[in-house]
Amino acid sequence: MASAPSSRASRFLTVLGGTPLDPPPLWMMRQAGRYLPEYRQVRSEAGDFLTLCYTPHLAAEVTLQPIRRFGFDAAIIFSDILVIPHALGVGLTFAAGEGPRLDPVTDASGLARLSARLDPACTEPVYAAIAETRAALPVETALIGFCGAPWTVATYMVAGQGTSDQAPARLLARRDPALFQNLIDRLVETSIAHLSAQVAAGADALQIFDTWAGVLDPASFARWCVAPLRRIVEGVKAAHPDVPVIAFPKGVHPQALALLKDVGVSAIGLDWTMDRPTIRAELAPHFALQGNLDPLLLIAGGDALEQEVRRIRTDFAGVPHIFNLGHGIRPETPVAHVETFVELVRKPL
Ligand code: CP3
Repeated sequence: MASAPSSRASRFLTVLGGTPLDPPPLWMMRQAGRYLPEYRQVRSEAGDFLTLCYTPHLAAEVTLQPIRRFGFDAAIIFSDILVIPHALGVGLTFAAGEGPRLDPVTDASGLARLSARLDPACTEPVYAAIAETRAALPVETALIGFCGAPWTVATYMVAGQGTSDQAPARLLARRDPALFQNLIDRLVETSIAHLSAQVAAGADALQIFDTWAGVLDPASFARWCVAPLRRIVEGVKAAHPDVPVIAFPKGVHPQALALLKDVGVSAIGLDWTMDRPTIRAELAPHFALQGNLDPLLLIAGGDALEQEVRRIRTDFAGVPHIFNLGHGIRPETPVAHVETFVELVRKPL
């Protein structure tokens, strides 16, 4: 049985529940990864990225590494958003330096080839890694499970790789909305199953990554991002009513973010382009806020880093705020700058 921390013990869960804390709780998107020498060591022993994802003991180990070093208030399980397409039978490889490559799903026959259910060979290792990580984490450190939002996962499935503007998925959604809706529906159902199983295995909170939400017009954002998110939150909460969910719709205008007010998420992840006073006025009454340091400032370091950390803390003082980056940490980030960053977030203002 996984031992979940009580909400009183976890500063992260306290803020997700709507209570502001000073200093704010802190974690980093992509906290495990290539900026850490101990990660590069385990990664080279594992051979390839997917082996690392699917070997529970190794996935748990790289999840714990940044917690040992920096004592973040939450850890995110080491896995990937592309585990769901892989578990649906889509061929997936990560070639060094090239990012993911998938067998593209572009038509009805591609959709028909997807498996009826998630392959446990892909999903069970994630749940085993969560149980092992939860058992090893300090009781006050929350564990975050995650998946990609259906729109973002679909952009990779349709293109078969990352693209600069997600044109293949946008075009399919325009040419054949019924087919695209079927793909989104499959991703909604499987995301509910995958997230629910992560909570059952010991995840204390969930984050849904919609990295490419910002390329859509408002009506498409409502259809392909907001409606699926609402269904996922409803589905997960039917089984786990109390689990907090964080949405990360990257690059979306504050007016469009207001559409998320009634979907049932506890917090919104903000990228670094967001105007904090606007966000604070319009969204803080409805959600906890998470973010939003430009990850490049962690590379720059020095005064620029110090001043922006102080500005973010000041701008969000008195509202529920979880300190985080506006997107994932980059591999070239000096570890010493992360150490300074953690001190800056935790020292009195
Ligand atoms: O945050 C964490 O520490 C948890 C693990 C995590 C990974 N990917 C590990 C990973 C999480 C939460 C993700 C999410 C993810 N994966 C997203 C959404 C968030 C975001 O950053 O926008 C996306 C779009 C993906 C798909 C993906 N995975 C891409 C495009 C790439 C290649 C680009 C890159 O950064 O290398 C990956 C690989 C990947 N996923 C790595 C890691 C640590 C690098 C793999 C390596 O070690 O070589």
